[in-house]
Amino acid sequence: MNFVTKILLLFLVYQADALVPPKYQWKTIDFAWPGAAERQAAISNGTYVPVNNMPTGIARWKEKLFITIPRWKKGIPASLNFVYLNETQDAPLHPYPNWEEGCLATNGSTTSNRTVVSTFRVHVDRCNRLWVVDNGVTEMSKDVRQVTQPAILVFDLKTDALLKKYIFKDDVLREASVLTSIAVETVGKECAKGNSFAYITDMGSNAVLVYSMKDDDAWRVENHYFHFDPHAGVYKVGGIDFYWSDGVSSCALSQPKKDGYSDLYLHPTSSTKQFRMSTKLLRDKDTPKEDIFNGVEIIGDRGPRSQATACDIDPATNVLFYTQVCKNGLGCWNIDKPFNEENTPLILSDCNLMEFPNDVKADREGNLWILSDRQSRFLYEAMDFEQVNFRVLTSPTSTLIQGTSCEKKSIFGRLSGSLAKELKSLVIRPKRVVMEYRRK
Ligand SMILES: *[C@@H]1O[C@H](CO)[C@@H](O)[C@H](O)[C@H]1NC(C)=O
Ligand SMILES: *[C@@H]1O[C@H](CO)[C@@H](O)[C@H](O)[C@H]1NC(C)=O
Ligand SMILES: *[C@@H]1O[C@H](CO)[C@@H](O)[C@H](O)[C@H]1NC(C)=O
Ligand SMILES: *[C@@H]1O[C@H](CO)[C@@H](O)[C@H](O)[C@H]1NC(C)=O
Repeated sequence: MNFVTKILLLFLVYQADALVPPKYQWKTIDFAWPGAAERQAAISNGTYVPVNNMPTGIARWKEKLFITIPRWKKGIPASLNFVYLNETQDAPLHPYPNWEEGCLATNGSTTSNRTVVSTFRVHVDRCNRLWVVDNGVTEMSKDVRQVTQPAILVFDLKTDALLKKYIFKDDVLREASVLTSIAVETVGKECAKGNSFAYITDMGSNAVLVYSMKDDDAWRVENHYFHFDPHAGVYKVGGIDFYWSDGVSSCALSQPKKDGYSDLYLHPTSSTKQFRMSTKLLRDKDTPKEDIFNGVEIIGDRGPRSQATACDIDPATNVLFYTQVCKNGLGCWNIDKPFNEENTPLILSDCNLMEFPNDVKADREGNLWILSDRQSRFLYEAMDFEQVNFRVLTSPTSTLIQGTSCEKKSIFGRLSGSLAKELKSLVIRPKRVVMEYRRK
């Protein structure tokens, strides 16, 4: 082995071993209460039931990491929260924008127009704004109650001011609507002048809702591909079998293309396929139905057991990252390459650190953030609160894709002939091997 090979080998093994370290991890979710007495009072009167708090969404902005907790059950003080990046691994959550307005009153009423009732996921746009899609419900898993109308809330992250609250009109919603995620496109370079469009997935009624900030209007877009695939409704995570018929649940935007429109990449949860459509079809409220029918492209299949709850595109590398629920892992695809098995590798998998990866987000500084939350145990069995149940993992996106087919050019492509072959045979990726979780 020559010197260069040794150095490269060292580098590759190190990389394989550099599994995303947990930045945060919790056994139960706790909050940064004003004092111990308030915490005790909230537990006594049922405002806070520690074991009922399960986070499902994350988003990073500068020194804050937002963490969302939908109201599945009773006792969730605040649905929209954050931790500071300089805090400890088990940092308590701070309601956003503050205690008074972040929390729901005990009787379920909101205290201000900045109160978020129940959100799954949020989006930080390139204009320092936080976009929240609020379902406005409590106790989703039993005795569901509509507390406020579903709405979009847009916060200015520099001042925490509420820039906009848009309440959805009944005609874009359905009885079964569950608004799960939001992606935002701002047209033009300048934030102040640009019109922004938000694309919201309605997982419950198989639609994408489009909101135009300039027109302050929203409309509903439907397509057959937004429905679940009956072949992909079976799951097994954390040793628990379950069946989901969830429709379109997550979407991510490419950089704008030459024509000024981005591509929206989307997928239903219960599906192994990846879809794409131009925002040209979405931004115009009057796009003919036939154009939408024909405008959603199926670009490929990730293979068996590859259902994903969430995805995001890293603007720095043009890589789409997606959770791999049944594989306790993460997959990737470079959107400039053909979508096939070779180009959609499973790059992380760990049955402990990543049991039920629920959300994934790329920030604007080249880092990926992953939330795992053992959701199947939370919903269908019982969680062991002596163990770590919730984790946030992070790593630079460039590190995650190094040496994989998601890299612009693989490291092997850049090396010539025999050296490349020798290296390829030497690379071992113990951490990237899929491990099945076995129930005790
Ligand atoms: C329950 O306790 C919390 C925390 O002290 C308080 O804010 C809330 O008003 C209490 N609710 C009731 C119904 O007493
Ligand atoms: C952590 O960061 C926040 C926000 O920048 C700051 O207000 C706080 O003082 C920092 N805490 C520590 C312990 O450095
Ligand atoms: C809830 O309590 C607040 C005061 O804390 C009150 O203004 C509001 O009317 C109550 N709402 C309901 C639905 O009882
Ligand atoms: C929120 O409510 C405050 C106080 O009532 C009001 O001044 C503000 O304009 C409202 N903001 C939005 C975005 O609706």
